[in-house]
Amino acid sequence: MRICCIGAGYVGGPTMSMIALKCADMRVDVVDINADRIRAWNSDSLPVFEPGLDDVVRQTRGKNLFFSTDVDSAIEGADIVFISVNTPTKTYGYGAGSASDLSFVESCARKIAEVSKSGKIVVEKSTMPVRTADVIKTILASTGKEFHVLSNPEFLAEGTAVSDLENPDRVLIGGDESSPEGRKAIEELASIYARWVPRERIITTNLWSSELSKLTANAFLAQRISSINSISALCEATGADIDQVARAVGADSRIGSSFLRSSIGYGGSCFQKDLLNLVYLCEHFHLPEAAAYWRAVTDMNAYQKRRFARAVLDSLFGNIRGKKLAVFGFAFKENTNDTRESPAIDICGDFLKENANLAFYDPKVSAEQIRSDLGVSAEDPRVEICTSAYEAANGAHAIVLLTHWEEFKTLDYSKIKESMCTPAWIFDGRNCLDHSRLIGLGFLVRGIGKGNLP
Ligand code: UDX
Ligand code: ADP
Repeated sequence: MRICCIGAGYVGGPTMSMIALKCADMRVDVVDINADRIRAWNSDSLPVFEPGLDDVVRQTRGKNLFFSTDVDSAIEGADIVFISVNTPTKTYGYGAGSASDLSFVESCARKIAEVSKSGKIVVEKSTMPVRTADVIKTILASTGKEFHVLSNPEFLAEGTAVSDLENPDRVLIGGDESSPEGRKAIEELASIYARWVPRERIITTNLWSSELSKLTANAFLAQRISSINSISALCEATGADIDQVARAVGADSRIGSSFLRSSIGYGGSCFQKDLLNLVYLCEHFHLPEAAAYWRAVTDMNAYQKRRFARAVLDSLFGNIRGKKLAVFGFAFKENTNDTRESPAIDICGDFLKENANLAFYDPKVSAEQIRSDLGVSAEDPRVEICTSAYEAANGAHAIVLLTHWEEFKTLDYSKIKESMCTPAWIFDGRNCLDHSRLIGLGFLVRGIGKGNLP
């Protein structure tokens, strides 16, 4: 059996590495049109930072896992082709700002149709709007060969991708359950995962249910974050503590404790895009009330980011022009180098509008990435990229913690305090520091939902 995956990104790379690890008898080719990315996958410095991923790639690369730009040959030789390319929110024309741009998916389907000498199983791995499989099917049907299209959305979270892939809550496979050929294709894919995932965790559905389940799962997770963030605003107004509320609420087994960590707002490539997709679908099918319901989740997220940036500004007497703010963390969450939709982008954008000077430190995000996300040049004197948290904080009026990196918890804050201006502020956007200890060291501290923001 030979597998090909088109798209060597945050999903395709780790997922295929895990399949290669678990299925030593299969050849897995991961292809991408981005030669730099492929070069990085073939080097010691992988383009995706994920704890444990280096090790998986080291065990498989060159044995049964291959990264290349030769898209045509990999497709031609494969029995199963995964499509794992990006599906960003459309920025132009009809549906701009909410619908997904499917041009990358469509071009993959056309490429598969063009180079395949025989029929294959084609698996949509990227999150797609419901009924995208139809687009792929229609293009492939025009070849007259026997293709089977399956939907197999990926539920891994960045930062924990390797363990999520190794031990998934479920694997979802959508396909044509009504025909024997469709069922056979579903079983062929299921049998790959069954090498390491217990059968009862492999769920099969029809295509549309699978596609919609992925959007819904992400929408529910994002909704929990927006729900707790809305309560954080109320905590600040009333003197309640959001962490205490989240703990008490999450202890109800019907509610559960995960995804109740109040923050500066969710980021990442999936939540916002999938919510907007859901809104677009509801609108498209003339369900305005359902659309407004999900739209509110994204509105709350935008509000939370704005509210935090505003609280920093207000605390510093409404004036941060020319003041140095040390920004701890830029990735959208800990243990990843990904900055897509990172709340840090909007929050720091607000600081730059006030002409603050920003000194960044993130353990994994490159200087180029930070500058590109903020839309500033390397010459912009307001933005400095540092190689340590200590360097960033030196001479700063405030520390603004935006990503929950473990190393921020164990810094020598007494030393940091000495090097900062007075009064020295810490704005903990992730509620991950020991606030009473910091107050003891002489810092002024503000968290999220701690009954203390204006
Ligand atoms: C998410 C889904 O979890 C995953 O199943 C799907 O496949 C892709 O989208 P990801 O975006 O990689 O994964 O990370 P996740 O851990 O879900 O975090 C998303 C954002 O929510 C991050 O910005 C994170 O900091 C934030 N978050 C998460 C909170 O603010 N509070 C929480 O309690 C949990
Ligand atoms: P994700 O987080 O969904 O994995 P990424 O943006 O990290 O998204 O990765 C998607 C990858 O797909 C990119 O590396 C991009 O170059 C690649 N890609 C997009 N279109 C094509 C295509 N037609 N053929 C091959 N690779 C493609």
